[in-house]
Amino acid sequence: MAARAVGLLASLPLCAQRSQVLRPIHRLLSCPRTVAAESKREEQSSGSVETGSEGGTPKKTFSEVQKERREQAQRTVLIHCPNKISVKKFLKYLSQHGPINNHFFYESFGLYAVVEFCQKESVTSLQNGTRTPSMGTEAAIPFRSRVFNLKTKNPSNPTSEQSRVQCSIHAPPSSKKLLELLCYAESIDDQLNTLLKELQLTEENTKLRYLTCSLIEDIAAAYFLDCTVRPFGSSVNSFGKLGCDLDMFLDLDEIGKFSANKTSGNFLMEFQVKNVPSERIATQKILSVIGECLDHFGPGCVGVQKILNARCPLVRFSHQASGFQCDLTTNNRIALKSSELLYIYGALDSRVRALVFSIRCWARAHSLTSSIPGSWITNFSLTMMVIFFLQRRSPPILPTLDSLKTLADAEDKCVIEGHNCTFVRDLNKIKPSGNTETLELLLKEFFEYFGNFAFNKNSINIRQGREQNKPESSPLHIQNPFETSLNISKNVSQSQLQKFVDLARESAWILNQEDKDRPSSSRSQPWGLAALLLPSVVNSASLAERVRKKPASERIKSLLESIKSSGPENATSTNGKRTVSTQA
Ligand code: GTP
Ligand code: MG
Repeated sequence: MAARAVGLLASLPLCAQRSQVLRPIHRLLSCPRTVAAESKREEQSSGSVETGSEGGTPKKTFSEVQKERREQAQRTVLIHCPNKISVKKFLKYLSQHGPINNHFFYESFGLYAVVEFCQKESVTSLQNGTRTPSMGTEAAIPFRSRVFNLKTKNPSNPTSEQSRVQCSIHAPPSSKKLLELLCYAESIDDQLNTLLKELQLTEENTKLRYLTCSLIEDIAAAYFLDCTVRPFGSSVNSFGKLGCDLDMFLDLDEIGKFSANKTSGNFLMEFQVKNVPSERIATQKILSVIGECLDHFGPGCVGVQKILNARCPLVRFSHQASGFQCDLTTNNRIALKSSELLYIYGALDSRVRALVFSIRCWARAHSLTSSIPGSWITNFSLTMMVIFFLQRRSPPILPTLDSLKTLADAEDKCVIEGHNCTFVRDLNKIKPSGNTETLELLLKEFFEYFGNFAFNKNSINIRQGREQNKPESSPLHIQNPFETSLNISKNVSQSQLQKFVDLARESAWILNQEDKDRPSSSRSQPWGLAALLLPSVVNSASLAERVRKKPASERIKSLLESIKSSGPENATSTNGKRTVSTQA
């Protein structure tokens, strides 16, 4: 990987860089932010793990965080505003309905305000004072929700107090900005922490995710009173990157639970219900109706697709007002439990999230992952690989799932569809690791570990934290932590796995080069993590030449040999440059 000046990257259009840079850097990140947004972000505080772990205060459990956020979201409304408004007057106008706890603005197809009242009643009061618009030639469906349009009575006569408002940022930084930040970091550890800080979900973005779930819950509740729509996946497991999708789970299990306890005497009341042949058909019918409802009545819900024949049936749609791509599922409780487990792992040690974010970002930069389903590794699988790797350190940085199960008490007991999903949920009961390895070392060792892993015979298993013989022949086998007979990476093809291995070996080699593991004196050459995220121009010949000139350890040499000698996936093109596909 040739060193490349950041200044050069800044001044050349991407197409012009391609003669030197084989993999385009715009793949590094999706949804780049605007320059104006960049400067605003500097002032913004961020952080998605609210465990209260700082300053010795007890850490919050996943359920406590979810409950608190849900309750906040139920007191919150979303208001589409004119581009210029007087914030003071706007807030005064809304406070007629009750005191406001907090608010923020953001842009997504116009200016939006998220306003959190102190009491839920204020929302009802606001709804009671709101009218359904008259549409002229079109007709409006009179749907009463918590998404509003704010109109000014005299739009042609703006007052001097009406001005552009400060917006919070909901997109990741541009590739250029991120590379600059990484180049100016003090150390590789600093680079990993910077990347985490820049890409993690902000407080506002997390609030918006819970609010969106709450708005969808209002719609589903028209059919299923007392249902709950819960976020899961990277929105809540602490590994979410700005711009990631919003996975939602329509939870119908709570329905009827309260009244069930109230039966007394000889009688027992049951709802008369319709029966269908299987749980799967019930799920499909429910999601089909909710999908129709979102399509017809859901404000800002567009592009609704019902994907009901998938292994896990879902409704996919864009929520325009929040800008989130949403996947709504039901009957998917194990995924919620996986999110809780990842949340625990993410909160146990500050190195975990920093390493996972960097590996995910590295994988995205090299098109190892994609937003389109296919034969590539998923972010979920990559996270499992990092967790497994951290369990294998000496002493381990993360405990095995079996040891988390041993720490569980009666209240933690959880069996879902016959699968034992029990583990300790109180973070305060888990002893911190005595391992003090740096992020720099862990990053290097991650690439070396998986660059040499016997994927052909071994399976990755975070339950036991050790390699096991593969029970089936898929190229990559990562045991599903709860449904242990399943492989979460069954989709990964041999060629995608080989690409991962090649890149891991190459990255290990780069990090072991003296000029790549520390800042250059001018800070203008990509080094450390920045060098790993740039498109590679390494070819086997030049790599060999450099190794000969500057002998690295025997291990690195053997890595190099294995890059050269592995199968056709590593074929070099006629010009000697390594052909790594940029296809997503
Ligand atoms: P990104 O959306 O890529 O940021 O990560 P994510 O963790 O949210 O992944 P994704 O949206 O693909 O899936 C959401 C959640 O579903 C994951 O966090 C897992 O809990 C679960 N999940 C995803 N893929 C699998 C799988 O192959 N097997 C199982 N059992 N669960 C999965
Ligand atoms: Mg997701």
